[in-house]
Amino acid sequence: MREAWWRDAVVYQIYPRSFADSDADGVGDLPGITARLDHVARLGADAVWLTPFQPSPQADHGYDVSDYTGVDPLFGDLDAFDALLARAHELGLRVLIDVVPNHCSSAHPLFRAALAAGPGSPERARFHFADGDSPPNNWPSVFGGPAWTRVPDGQWYLHLYDSSQPDWNWDDPRTAELFDDVLRFWFDRGVDGLRIDVAYGMVKAPGLPDLPDPDAMEPMRLRANTLASDRPEVHDIHRRWRSIADSYDPPRVLVGEVNLPPERAVGYTGPGLLHQVFAFGMVTAPWDARAWAATGTALATGTPGGVTWVVENHDVVRTPSRYGSPARARAAILAILGLPGAAYLYQGQELGLPEVDVPPDARQDPAWARSGFSRDGCRVPMPWTTDPPYGFSLAPPWLPFPPGWGQYAVESDPPSLALTRRALELRSSLPFSPDDEVVFSADDDVFTAVRAGWFALVIAMGDRAVPVPAGQVLLSSDPLTSDGWLPPDTAAWLRLSGAEPKI
Ligand code: NOJ
Repeated sequence: MREAWWRDAVVYQIYPRSFADSDADGVGDLPGITARLDHVARLGADAVWLTPFQPSPQADHGYDVSDYTGVDPLFGDLDAFDALLARAHELGLRVLIDVVPNHCSSAHPLFRAALAAGPGSPERARFHFADGDSPPNNWPSVFGGPAWTRVPDGQWYLHLYDSSQPDWNWDDPRTAELFDDVLRFWFDRGVDGLRIDVAYGMVKAPGLPDLPDPDAMEPMRLRANTLASDRPEVHDIHRRWRSIADSYDPPRVLVGEVNLPPERAVGYTGPGLLHQVFAFGMVTAPWDARAWAATGTALATGTPGGVTWVVENHDVVRTPSRYGSPARARAAILAILGLPGAAYLYQGQELGLPEVDVPPDARQDPAWARSGFSRDGCRVPMPWTTDPPYGFSLAPPWLPFPPGWGQYAVESDPPSLALTRRALELRSSLPFSPDDEVVFSADDDVFTAVRAGWFALVIAMGDRAVPVPAGQVLLSSDPLTSDGWLPPDTAAWLRLSGAEPKI
């Protein structure tokens, strides 16, 4: 196995609740994933990333962890995890798991102990507790409302997310020690790497001062709180974790969720720091050639292999709905898979799943109750077979299926599935390197990325067909016109005429 496999890996994100249910409770689980991993292998991905499956009251669907080194009975047990890991490795898939170090669950034994121990105790010092008649500062929670909740003895505790997710105090050395053990626990078990939740959070400004302009906080974005994110000292935590990851053979990989503008996010990677970051420039960029070229350029300035190309995950609106058409979503698949470095696909993206308008009374996202914003529409379970219940579960699913879900099923072979498989096959056969230089441009409504001088990714992002550059079309997200032009909302991969790849 190559040590730097992650630099150009295609990682398939699995949201365990919604992938496959083996025990007919309507919620996906680890044995369900194990049984369906061959779908991921057949797609041609290199690795899977599992969002949290550790014990949790599930207030934020696992991002509220009450035990960092176990498996929630909803999803199975440690034996089921070991079986999943073994099956993945047998199929040649690496496994990344989520670690959530900014906050835990209010059901975590250490938070419970802090509540029981009372003000001024060493137990409370593990979190951010403070006195006051009103919230100790003006920070808003990312999920809406204040970032502080009062406990019966009058103190307040800080939670940048839901009130069920108290923030750890990273100024207390016991926090780093606790997480050292968490990392070692999973690395010793054989996981290949970690996706670090809110990796740009954790450290807060000393004294937790007021934000000068709390109204400037964009909803659902921590980054506008510069007193609680992107603090320089956070890199010390990453350095500590990198030395733990590097002490393993093969070294384990650290991928940070760094939801900052691309030019800031790229600074989180490099020797001694994180291997890779999720930077969300491509997630937030509108369907616009100039926006894509600018974002691509900013992301590509980072450590080669350090950025991830990603347009979907469990927190954002599915691309067919976000961009406004299934064709655009297919083009975006060719975009992320054609650029140098790692690409992340979210489960169901390969099926062209659209965002679902989940009925309000069925919505489960805690952000829905706090702010009226719901991420449930991208979390509806996977359709495997054409007819209800679509091979997901024998019980009603935890989020209801919309009508017509079967047209997207793996068994229905939707157009984006064949496209994703073909793109992955071609990607692995072309002489690509994560170190390839890439030059982005936008000519009116045509987006182009030229890679290593010989390969071009071209997308017609306007409402007209456009001629393709001279060369051999290797793959297109939809058929070209009879004149060989690129129709609107279509991407193509080309080998440019007169330019030979350097092998
Ligand atoms: C980012 C995760 O992707 C999201 O689902 C979660 O709600 C927040 N971090 C808080 O953990």
